[in-house]
Amino acid sequence: LTFFLSHLCAATVSPVLGTVAARWKHSLPDLTYDYGALEPHINAEIMQLHHSKHHATYVNNLNVTEEKYQEALAKGDVTAQVSLQPALRFNGGGHINHTIFWTNLSPNGGGEPQGELAAAINRDFGSFQALKDKMSAATVAVQGSGWGWLGFDKESGKLRITACPNQDPLQGTTGLVPLLGIDVWEHAYYLQYKNVRPDYVKAIWNVINWENVSERLQAAKK
Ligand SMILES: *[C@@H]1O[C@H](CO)[C@@H](O)[C@H](O)[C@H]1NC(C)=O
Ligand SMILES: *[C@@H]1O[C@H](CO)[C@@H](O)[C@H](O)[C@H]1NC(C)=O
Ligand SMILES: *[C@@H]1O[C@H](CO)[C@@H](O)[C@H](O)[C@H]1NC(C)=O
Ligand SMILES: [Fe+2]
Repeated sequence: LTFFLSHLCAATVSPVLGTVAARWKHSLPDLTYDYGALEPHINAEIMQLHHSKHHATYVNNLNVTEEKYQEALAKGDVTAQVSLQPALRFNGGGHINHTIFWTNLSPNGGGEPQGELAAAINRDFGSFQALKDKMSAATVAVQGSGWGWLGFDKESGKLRITACPNQDPLQGTTGLVPLLGIDVWEHAYYLQYKNVRPDYVKAIWNVINWENVSERLQAAKK
């Protein structure tokens, strides 16, 4: 799991994922808050569908794909293994992205980051407001479905913003550890914000769980 996490935007998924994953079946993680708890910023209907339908579908399809992958491995069928990789990447990526996303949000969220995270933001972006402006702009600009990410670049020790369109994972971001993700697939906002993605991105800052982002930064630095 750790391997895959740190290669979110990588162009390929290592076949290792299939072997490692055989040891467990993936399951839909529970939310630590109610579907309605993020209102008025994200409404209950969106949260319920997003978690219990969209995320659950990624998990089910990941399970099914991994089973097929195991069979292909057992048979030594390389062609089948290769052809299963896009589905592994899509459903594995969806499962991981959403698992991070739920913990990045909290009914007690919003406000400003504290401590080391705040210092790193000031160092790498100038100010918290500058981070929000830059990440909002990058996220709003994603073409079609995709995600905006704040990540930790282990090589430089710096925070970085990157935006990944659905069909076109960025290659250059290999090694970027995800700290904060903003889902801008339409299923994440359409029922409440219609096609006005910028309003959704503006509102989501009110429910960001900065403590979780800080914890992730601590973990990434180890
Ligand atoms: C994972 O897949 C198995 C079968 O492939 C299924 O029984 C299980 O319910 C799935 N888990 C989730 C959370 O969907
Ligand atoms: C998961 O996030 C990565 C990085 O933003 C992105 O390339 C990928 O398309 C996402 N997958 C899904 C299913 O959301
Ligand atoms: C926050 O992130 C960490 C990963 O560093 C995760 O293990 C934890 O469950 C999250 N906590 C909450 C409250 O979301
Ligand atoms: Fe989503």
